Amino acid sequence: MNADSLRTVLSGLPVPEIHYYDTIDSTNEVALIWIAAGAPDGALVAADVQTAGRGRIGRRWITRPGAALAFSLILKDNIPDPAVLGLYSPLGALALADVFEQEQVPVSIKWPNDVLVHGRKVAGILVETAWKGDRIFGITVGIGINVSPEAVPAPEELLYPATSVASELGRPVDREILLARVLERIFFWRARMVEPVFRQTWEARLAFKGQSVEVNPGTPGATAWTGTLLGVTENGDLRLLGADGMEQLITVGDVRLRPVSANH
Ligand code: BTN
Repeated sequence: MNADSLRTVLSGLPVPEIHYYDTIDSTNEVALIWIAAGAPDGALVAADVQTAGRGRIGRRWITRPGAALAFSLILKDNIPDPAVLGLYSPLGALALADVFEQEQVPVSIKWPNDVLVHGRKVAGILVETAWKGDRIFGITVGIGINVSPEAVPAPEELLYPATSVASELGRPVDREILLARVLERIFFWRARMVEPVFRQTWEARLAFKGQSVEVNPGTPGATAWTGTLLGVTENGDLRLLGADGMEQLITVGDVRLRPVSANH
């Protein structure tokens, strides 16, 4: 992977500028700085290795050389109301899910955005927002994909079982072609984010639907929500049916979902 080959592979997509790094701290960090400096809509930051890759809830994200995709797509135009910011990480998840389904590999999406193949996490998504006062100035959709098995961290480094695209497809995978396919689906879904089909497709792929789940707030000591997972709202909130028969809405944020029966 290099800047020239990326430009060639992505030439048919609305990606006006690409910043590629062999090694960088975090593509999301670069993207946020670039947004402030005037990056155009659709600009892309990609790296072979990240030395300080960020995950959700302040976690680290490991990106090993030659084995993964780490990229951040900058979105600046037609940013809808902040109330629907929670739809940007499922945007990435839906795109990835499409790519697997094109290969007849079934996927599920663990709310809000973890793409699971055969119950194992294959990619992570971290959306970060650049604000100017109370106005959204730009969004970076940061996606890390375990492309080949070497990208998968050791079991003791994992909070959730993980796998790679190549392991699940049963063949080696070209990272640049995979990136082009994922981006193509992101642009497809981006144009439909506030249409019912977005929520319906997400919900149809939602992991643990109808099952008992526990959602842990990121803050230590805070009480977890438990209930039956019903689905998602059009804003991206999770709908849980509590033991008291009342429906609860949980907003995407520093939360972590797991099935009650599993030990991870
Ligand atoms: C998670 O599952 O916790 C989200 C991981 C997101 C990782 C990607 S890799 C590209 C982008 N740059 C970062 O620093 N993080 C995201």
